[in-house]
Amino acid sequence: MTGTTTTDHAVHEAGSAQAEHAAHADHGADHGAPHVVNTDASATYAAARDRSAILDALIDEHAGTDPTRFRMLTGDRPTGPLHIGHYLASLRNRVRLQDKGVETFVVIADYQVITDRDSVGEMGANVQGLVLDYLAAGIDPTRTTVFTHSAVPALNQLMLPFLSLVTDAELRRNPTVKDELALSGGRPLSGLLLTYPVHQAADILFCHSRIVPVGRDQLPHLEQTRAIARRFNTRYAAGHSVFPEPEALLSDVPLLLGTDGTKMSKSKGNVINLRDTADETGARIRAARTDSERRITFDPEARPAVANLLTIAGLFLEESPESVADRVGDGGARALKEVVTEAVNESLAGHRARRADLARDPAHVAAVLREGNARANEVAERTLATVRAVMGMGY
Ligand code: TRP
Repeated sequence: MTGTTTTDHAVHEAGSAQAEHAAHADHGADHGAPHVVNTDASATYAAARDRSAILDALIDEHAGTDPTRFRMLTGDRPTGPLHIGHYLASLRNRVRLQDKGVETFVVIADYQVITDRDSVGEMGANVQGLVLDYLAAGIDPTRTTVFTHSAVPALNQLMLPFLSLVTDAELRRNPTVKDELALSGGRPLSGLLLTYPVHQAADILFCHSRIVPVGRDQLPHLEQTRAIARRFNTRYAAGHSVFPEPEALLSDVPLLLGTDGTKMSKSKGNVINLRDTADETGARIRAARTDSERRITFDPEARPAVANLLTIAGLFLEESPESVADRVGDGGARALKEVVTEAVNESLAGHRARRADLARDPAHVAAVLREGNARANEVAERTLATVRAVMGMGY
């Protein structure tokens, strides 16, 4: 990938990843949860998976010696507590990449909270909760920059030139935006919901990120970001690669459901949050939907709720769901639930203890954000200075 393309493919490329987009809108408290269905045969998605596998191999080869080559950015909306889906599909992976030496940025996307709702909610507490889970999971603020949109003006300013590079038709056909609009309870499409993929492009491009670990629902935004990078380079920078085109790194964690066998959702009470106690977790899993067949087997088609519990246990135990099923055997739903509860609670015990400790030190959490924001501001100001210079605005 050169980032120095001289032709603009705006019209032709617009349908690619979008057309194959999954029906899952990444929404509200559910955002960042795994949306990946591994059995799906869609060609675009399969191609994105293949590229992700190659990227993973390249990271293994080079990250230790050349960390900036794979600078990575990802993020979360501060709409509520993170749950085990976030942990298994994204948090663990972020820490893994950070520990391989990949230079990492994590945006707490506070301006994205108001794309599809009328109030900011418990913004301060939600932001603090995210930082607690990041730190407890092993995000190391000396190596990873954790920051909020609202504290980095130069990042937000990039949205202006970027908006000049997209058409309204392109924005209107973004499938993720359409899904979010459909789920927003009859609210009219706000200017921010329509344009937030461009704002997200600013998140990714301000730090020249090469890698963006995302769920499948975010692929259209990544395509939009790549188009913006290419068009910027072509139109405003005479083909020079001011912005490299970033790549998606897809999670290989399968789609996880809530404990009732339907999509995880805070409002349905079917989620296990990272901050829940062991007892709350046990109660939630005891109440989980299963079926009346005594012998436990892994059969996602015929027994989705049981398969989901086996998948959760397997991911925590780093074991296949089939082998968890074999172990439970004729023990029935009750034995299965005991295995799942133990797997979740034992795996998260350290995380939860660290989280509780950190929660007693709000000054530390505030300092992590302050320092992250300062670093993000430095990077964003440098990028904006370049953008202004290449656009002839360096007065
Ligand atoms: N839109 C993402 C979500 O809802 C959060 C996010 C904001 C993000 N900015 C980002 C993800 C940049 C990846 C890259 O989960």
